[in-house]
This record gives sequence, structure tokens and C-alpha cells, in this order.
Amino acid sequence: MFYLRTCILFLFLFLFPFCVFAEDGSQLWLRFPNVKNGISTDKIISKGKNPTLDIAKKELTTYWQGQAVELRTEKSLKNLKDGYTIISGLDKIIISSAKETGLLYGVYHILRLQQTQSDLTHLNITEKPSYDVRILNHWDNLDGSIERGYAGHSLWKWEDLPGTISPRYEAYARANASIGINAVVLNNVNASPNMLKNEYLIKVKALADIFRPYGIKVYLSVNFSSPKVIGGLENSDPLNKKVQEWWKQKTNEIYKIIPDFGGFLVKANSEGQPGPQDYGRTHADGANMMADVLKPHGGIVMWRAFVYSASPEDRAKQAYLEFLPLDGKFRDNVIIQIKNGPIDFQPREPFNPLFGALKKTSEMVEFQITQEYLGFSNHLVFLGPLFKETLDSDTYAYGKGSTVSKVTDGTLRPAKLTAISAVANIGDETNWTGNHFAQANWYAFGRLAWNHQLGSDQIAGEWIKMTFTDDKNFVNPVKEMMLSSRETAVDYMMPLGLHHIFAFDHHYGPEPWGNIPGGRPDWMPVYYHKADENGLGFNRTQTGSNAVAQYFPPLNETYGNIETCPENLILWFHHVPWKYTMKDGKSLWDELCYTYDKGVKNVREYQKTWDRMEPYVDAERFHHVQSRLKIQSKDAVWWKDACLLYFQTYSKMPIPYDIERPV
Ligand code: GCU
Repeated sequence: MFYLRTCILFLFLFLFPFCVFAEDGSQLWLRFPNVKNGISTDKIISKGKNPTLDIAKKELTTYWQGQAVELRTEKSLKNLKDGYTIISGLDKIIISSAKETGLLYGVYHILRLQQTQSDLTHLNITEKPSYDVRILNHWDNLDGSIERGYAGHSLWKWEDLPGTISPRYEAYARANASIGINAVVLNNVNASPNMLKNEYLIKVKALADIFRPYGIKVYLSVNFSSPKVIGGLENSDPLNKKVQEWWKQKTNEIYKIIPDFGGFLVKANSEGQPGPQDYGRTHADGANMMADVLKPHGGIVMWRAFVYSASPEDRAKQAYLEFLPLDGKFRDNVIIQIKNGPIDFQPREPFNPLFGALKKTSEMVEFQITQEYLGFSNHLVFLGPLFKETLDSDTYAYGKGSTVSKVTDGTLRPAKLTAISAVANIGDETNWTGNHFAQANWYAFGRLAWNHQLGSDQIAGEWIKMTFTDDKNFVNPVKEMMLSSRETAVDYMMPLGLHHIFAFDHHYGPEPWGNIPGGRPDWMPVYYHKADENGLGFNRTQTGSNAVAQYFPPLNETYGNIETCPENLILWFHHVPWKYTMKDGKSLWDELCYTYDKGVKNVREYQKTWDRMEPYVDAERFHHVQSRLKIQSKDAVWWKDACLLYFQTYSKMPIPYDIERPV
């Protein structure tokens, strides 16, 4: 017996550190030093008791290695919302906030500073979030699958809830809180009506209870036909009194179960989903019906602008045409959730012209963190630069300087509520996101939702230091690779403004030739690139679909003129002759060839860079990333060869001699 106990004790002592600190990616960026313990409880000064405060204190006692910390709730800091101040006093650091959540964010801030070896001596920091609601959208289905998910199955184990609680729920909440994410939509926008059944609401409550102390509110995607499908009503017409009553009762039921429930996300009349237009009503009729029943509880409706149909109208114009006439008709607890670009999360799109165009309606950005159109979890693509490109785009809606961030964060017009969202890339794989580097995209979204002024460089630097090491021999080359990776992906997939030439439906590889006779034209790649013997690209100028007219001056002219249109979007807005002379003097065709080739070469450089990183990284993560880069490199060649050989059938021009021959 004694022998057995000794063995167990020995095994525990020996294996414990490896279990807890196994380098499998499960710790994300929260790899606080584990050499010593944190400070003792008597060095944490705080008043009151509260579950959020308890978490803040626990993080400090476990990981903080500096001087004493005072956590102060200060009502006078109300205007900072979830924000906080951090000041280094003589013998302590003082974190103050109007809310306990703000104090928790402040604690994660100093832990981040400690972990990134920043100077902690003269802190005088004031932080205020750029957006009120910083929300992840999970496209998770009730059967455990994830639409466009590339990191395993859903984190939410619906069949086990509410009885069995996975430890990952809390780990997920903690990771989000550490970067300021305060909201989550649990289920797919293509929503099952069953989500609103009582049996599921009880499961949702279990998650909400775990997330609450981390400052996270739960929201649900709802199916517009729910009253008919699960309520047994004749229809789901938003002007039908019985339907309105059904939503009211359902909403009351939800708030009884989850008193701080956030609200609904709705995909209506889009890609076959039901909606108010099924009954001849408008998007405003549908959204307002839900807004009215949520209002007494403080809930909101995030109504998606991702609508398009198989009409002859250019798909890129349809959301604007649909929503502009409804401006001013929405209740003040409705926010229109708009994808960053007018088509669909392409490697590069111009910003969506709806931003700034709706003057009397709140607008929020929807990004996609999951890499549906960027090589799934196989390709290393850091999305910080993509997010920044949209947020920093000038809409000119209120004159020069009216960036997308300023039209959505309340700066340029008073907004009752501001929000920003992104489709999550999280699944139940051990490393959460499939590719270790995809964790950086979750991190980048959170950091930018908190502060859209941050640069991609800073975000990447923080993330690398927290996730891997602060050795500059690792940080510098890896950061360089991350920062250029989005442009590289554009280069080998869809340079110069090409878009949506993906293989049908799965959206992984190239299929520029895709054209199923009798199929929906706007789902065919040929619809988007319009290659012919004259040239390549979608004419969206006045002589074409005139989508340029949806942009404010001077952008409509800049984009509309082939000479002034930025070359990285030239094929988005113009049908460009193959021999057209680009700014560097090359023909369009040669430019296309060299750009694809550059993309391939860059990925090969990333492989070499990563190979040199072996001494600085654990074997598990080293080999994982190395093998993914190998796939990416092969895929880049596949993209280049497929696209160039296909487009060459139209250009009929030779591939320049110094470009690797397609095989
Ligand atoms: C894309 C994606 C779909 C998704 C849709 C949406 O089209 O491929 O899977 O449902 O976007 O955002 O609603």
C-alpha cells in the first residue's frame, strides 16, 4: 500500500508539470511564467466580494510577480465603460475601474506587460474600449458540427450540457476576457429553430453562468421561422399579432432563465434562410418586431446585411440597395451587422459601401476569423493587417477622415450602442484553432475590438512573445513572416482585386473555370473574374454595374477610373486589357504572373524562416507549423498553376521566362 502511494505520488510530482505545461497549444497566449508563484494575498488590496474580483485576485496570486496591487472600484470612472486606469504608486500598482470587469481587464493588462518584459515602473495608463460589444460569432450547429470550422467539432457539448461541464468552457471565457471580448453568439447564423426550445435554453444558461464572471454575455442566432416551426403558428409574419406575442413570450422565457441575456443575431432572407420578405415585409419590420420584445430587458438585435439573391444585379451592390431605403426605420436597439466587404470575406475586398451610407442606423463590422477563404487552418495567414485595412479605410461619408472605425465606434455620430463582431475560428481541437498561428487571429480581433488604434505590428509582437518566446532571434523573423502573410496569401490566391474564384462550396482551392450550366450565375467563379480574350476583371464602373457609385466622392471617381484605382483592387472594379500597362511598366498579364509567383516564393521563404526557428520552439509546435507550411507551399503552387494556366487560355500570352513553369 505504502509502495503504491509512493509510486502515485512520484508519478504525480514527475508528470504534473508536463501535464499542465504541455506544449500542445492549449494554453494559447496565457503562458504566464510558472517558475515562481504569484504574490501573496496580503499584497492584493481590494474591497468587497464579487466573482469577477475573485478571478482577478486569483490571476494575481497565481501569476503576478511584481509589487502589491490595489484593485479599486471608482464610480467616477463610469465614462470609461469597461475601461480602467493603471498607475504605479510608490509601493503598489493601483488599478481602478467603475466595474469589476474593468479591474479584471486591468489585471490582464499588467500580466501582459509582465509577460512581454515591458517596463512596469512608471505606469500611467487609461484604457477605454473602442466598442461596447466585442463579440465572437460561433457558426456552431446543435449536432456539434461547425459551419466553416477547421479546428474540430464545436466546443459546446450540447448533449452533455447542462449536467456535464467541460473545463474548456471556463478556459475559453478566460482567454476572451484576457483580450477584452465580452460577448458571444453561441450558434450558427443558419440557425436551427430548436435553439430556442426550453431544453436548449437550459443548456445555454449553464454556459452563461460560467461566462458571466468573466464579463461575457451570451447571445443567440435565431431562425426567423421559429414561431411557425417550434411554436406551431400558421406563419412567422412579423406583423401577425400572434407571431409578435410568440416572440414576446419566448423572450420573457429566455430572460427568466438568463437575466443578462444579450440579444439576437439574425440572418434573414439570405441564402435560403427565412425572413420578413417571405411575407412581403421589410428587414426593418422583422428587426423591429424582435427589438420591441427585447427592449424592456435591455437586449439588442444584430441584423445582418449579408443579403443577396440570384438577381441580374451585381451581387456587390445588393446589400446597399436593400438597406439604404430603410435607413432611419430601425429601432435604436437594432444594429446592422455588415461584412467587411461587399461580397464575402474574400482575401481582399474594398470596404462595404454600406459603412457610412446608413446615417440614421447603427452599423457594426463583421469580420471572419475562421479562414473560410484563406486556406482553412492549413495556411499561416495573420489577419491583423486585413482587419486594420477595413477599419482604417476612409469612407468619406462625413468628409475626409471618416474611417470605417469612426463611423462604427460612435466618433462621427452619437450611437446608442457600438459593436464589432467576428466569426470565430475556435473548435474542440487541443490547440483551439487548428493551426497554432491561427490563435493569433483570435487574439488580434480581441485586441482591435478593444482598441482599433493598435497596429498589427504591436499585436503580432505581443502575441509572439506571449505565445512563444521574447527572444528577438525568434520574435523578429516570425513577426515579419506574420505581417506579410496576408499579402502573400492574396498574391498566390487572388491578386490585383480578383475574387471568389474558389472551388465551389468548400472554398479551399482554385476553380476559376467553375461554371455549371444552369447553376446560379452568382455562385460561379466565371461571374467574378469575367476573363475573355480582351482582358480580365469585373467592370463595376459607369459602363459596367456602376457599383462604384455606391461609394462617396472622391472614392467613386478614384475607384471608377482605371488610372487612379489602386492596383490591388483594379480587377475588382475594372475589366482590364491583358496588355494594359501597370504602374511598374509591366503588362497586366505579366504582372499577374509575377504576383502569383511572388506569393509562392514568399511561402517558401516562410518555410526557411520557420526551419531556422527550431532551437527556439518546442518540438510539438515546431513540427506542427512546419508541416502546415509544407501544405501551404504546395497549395500556393496549385493556385498559381491553376490560375495562370486557365487565364492564359484567354490572354494567349507567354508566361515570363523567369517564372517557375507550371507543372
Ligand atoms: C458564406 C459562407 C456560408 C455562411 C454565409 C453567411 O457564404 O460560405 O457558409 O453561411 O457566408 O455569412 O451567412
